[in-house]
Amino acid sequence: MIKEIRSNANYYPESLCPKVAEKLAEKFNLSPNNFYIDNGEDGVITMLGLTFINPGDECIMAELTFPAYENIVGKMDGKSIVIPMTKDYRFDVDGMIRAITPKTKIVFLCNPNNPTGTIIYKDEFERLLAAVPENTLFVCDEAYYEFVDDPNYPQSLNYFNDHPNLIVMRTFSKIMGLASVRIGYAIAHKEIVQVMLKTREPFPVNRVAQAGAFAAMDDKEFCDKTFTVNAAGRKQLFEGLKQMGFEVYAGQANFIFANLGKPSMPVFEGLLKEGVRNHPCRFLKGSSKKG
Ligand SMILES: Cc1ncc(COP(=O)(O)O)c(C=O)c1O
Repeated sequence: MIKEIRSNANYYPESLCPKVAEKLAEKFNLSPNNFYIDNGEDGVITMLGLTFINPGDECIMAELTFPAYENIVGKMDGKSIVIPMTKDYRFDVDGMIRAITPKTKIVFLCNPNNPTGTIIYKDEFERLLAAVPENTLFVCDEAYYEFVDDPNYPQSLNYFNDHPNLIVMRTFSKIMGLASVRIGYAIAHKEIVQVMLKTREPFPVNRVAQAGAFAAMDDKEFCDKTFTVNAAGRKQLFEGLKQMGFEVYAGQANFIFANLGKPSMPVFEGLLKEGVRNHPCRFLKGSSKKG
């Protein structure tokens, strides 16, 4: 990354991130044409919306999930169909299936989910995937994929070849620690990638991000260490919070979701003073467990 900025800062970046796309293709045994790379997964989500959502289109998502989906649907004058969580803050897969109509343009699945950290299991994934019609996009946000160690987690890419409407999104921001440079991608069938490329701006991923992502894919040692340290930290937090009497949810990401049973803002501010950054989930819509 340092070399790239020193030598090439005066050149525009490669528009299609060819080195990153080729390396991803090798890693996943797919073609570079199966990768849509943008300015973080956030960029991918925005472009999905700009490319595919027309006014009035319905998009299904969970009540407590990554807010970017609802944001882009709103911006495109689409309609978010928000499915309440189950009592234990998991996705209501059958509720999502029941919500599918001929107007459904996208089903968003965040797995592991932000902010709950929970996953949907292989059998649930298969049920949902089978219920999504061919002309509806099934978008799986797997930003935290690399942190998962639950054997019941579905390997979505195993279903890729048989499902032209399946889009899997991943990022270099999380396990690879490159959040500031902004690079993420979608794995999709080439017809989808092509139409997204027509919609986007020409240079969404800067040179430093491309160099960093390219190098990061070889840095197995860093990823392995991050995985191990995170798994231990996640367990420690889970058990510690449980011992303190809080309602904690077994998650698979690089954070833990807990119901403290009291307003979260004072806890957020108190922990911040101690140098601990955390995220208050104040708005648990439709939940009796507010706070
Ligand atoms: C579920 C989920 N998807 C996407 C993103 C965005 O990732 P990126 O940094 O690649 O834009 C995040 C970031 O927090 C996230 O939690």
